[in-house]
Amino acid sequence: MFKRRRRKKAYPKPVKQRRKRPPQPILKSAREIQIMREAGRIVGLVHLAMKEAVRPGVSTWELDQIANEVLQKHNATSAFLGYRGYPGHICASINDELVHGIPSKERILRAGDIISIDVGSNYRGFIGDSAWTYAVGEIDEEAARLMAVTEASLYKGIEQAVVGNRVVDISRAVQQYVEAHDFYVVRGYTGHGVGRQMHEPPQVLNYVAGDPDGNTPLEEGLVIAIEPMVQGGAWQTKVLRDDWTVVSQDGSLAAHFEHTVAITNNGPEILTLP
Ligand code: MF3
Ligand code: CO
Repeated sequence: MFKRRRRKKAYPKPVKQRRKRPPQPILKSAREIQIMREAGRIVGLVHLAMKEAVRPGVSTWELDQIANEVLQKHNATSAFLGYRGYPGHICASINDELVHGIPSKERILRAGDIISIDVGSNYRGFIGDSAWTYAVGEIDEEAARLMAVTEASLYKGIEQAVVGNRVVDISRAVQQYVEAHDFYVVRGYTGHGVGRQMHEPPQVLNYVAGDPDGNTPLEEGLVIAIEPMVQGGAWQTKVLRDDWTVVSQDGSLAAHFEHTVAITNNGPEILTLP
C-alpha cells in the first residue's frame, strides 16, 4: 500500500468574503409620504423664487436670503444649514462649480453664467431635496446643451424608478443618456435615499459600478433623491480650499438636476414640484 499523495492545490483558498448586503432602506408610510409631499412642495416653491431671482448682478448671498424667506414662510427650515457645519441655507455653484458652493456677497452673477442651486427643506421632521441649474441671461450653446442633457438624464432616471426595477436601472439610464450625448457623469457624488435624514440608504449612483446598493429593489414607500451631476470635459472633480465647493478638475462647466421621488405602485411620484 502506498499513501495517496494529496494533490497540491493549484490555487490558494479564497479569502472568505462577507456577503455584501447593503443597509436596508427605510420605507415610508402613506402618512409619512404625505408630509414629504409638503416638504417637497416647499422646495419647489423655493426653486420658483430662485428662477425669478436669478439674473445678472445678483449675489448668491441674496439668493440664499430669498430661499430662507420662502422656507420660513412655509414653516420649514433649511436641511443644509449646519449639516456637517455647512454655513448656507442653499448651495449655489457657478459655472465650473459642480455642487456645494457657499453663498457669498462677493459672488455676483454675470450674464452667460450657469448656476446650480441645491435646496433642502426640513418640514415636520422630513426632508425634501432638489437641485436645478439656471441660465443667467444669455448663455452659449454648449452650456445650454449641457443643461438640457443633464435635465433630460434626470427624467430618464425617474422613468426607471418603478416597482420591480432596482436602483441600478436608474443609474444605467442616467449614464447611458449622458454618455450618448458626449458628456461626463461625475463619480464620487451620488443620489440617495431621503426621509427623516437627508442621506439614507440606498446610494443612487449616476453610473453603473457594481455597488451593492445598486441591487436594492425599488418598492412602494421608498423615497430617493435622483441627482445627475454632469460635466462638459471630464468626470473628475476636486474640492476647493473652503473644504466645500466641488469644481470640475479641468475647469469645464458642470450641471446638476435633482428631484426627490417616491416609488409608488402607480409609478414614480416627483415630490419636489411646486
Ligand atoms: N443636496 C445635497 C445632497 O444631496 C446636500 C447638500 S450638502 C450640504 O447631498 F452640506 F450643504 F447640506
Ligand atoms: Co441630494
